[in-house]
Amino acid sequence: MSTAPEPIRVLVLHGPNLNLLGTRNPTVYGRTTLAEIDAELAARARAAGAEVDAVQENDEGALIRAIHDAAARYDALVINPAAYTHTSVAIRDAIEAADLPAVEVHLSNIHARESFRAQSLTAPVCVGQISGFGARSYLLGLDAALAHVEGLRANAKRATDEPTS
Ligand code: DQA
Repeated sequence: MSTAPEPIRVLVLHGPNLNLLGTRNPTVYGRTTLAEIDAELAARARAAGAEVDAVQENDEGALIRAIHDAAARYDALVINPAAYTHTSVAIRDAIEAADLPAVEVHLSNIHARESFRAQSLTAPVCVGQISGFGARSYLLGLDAALAHVEGLRANAKRATDEPTS
């Protein structure tokens, strides 16, 4: 008898200043608010049979604690570390230590802006990075996280189904 797979649980973490989306630099970040992004993520997850929680923090320590706690409760992380992308070894190390697949997202194309934004300290410990698609970057990030976890589950199942010789 086959049982339904566990829903994939994803934590979306928004870093500093992203609570201001909608009014912050709309030419760069658009007019979509964080609440609207979170509602779209929830709808997309529901349609995919997945579960998503979204949290925004302005403090580095709070983001680190959220990453630590996520390891036991989620299958993947979608993270926009915002300005900490370019500065935070501590957030990089937390993602690495959590051993949870992470997808880094940015609304703007960080490679097409000031040179200090082109370096991401966090991307090397993520599965990949999505940058430059506005609010849609988050939906692409969620899709990428879900596809990645499905791939991991399929590989794990194949490994347990294989007869041992
Ligand atoms: C950002 C890009 C960062 O450089 C910036 O500090 C942000 C937002 C983005 O989503 O485009 O706060 O992460």
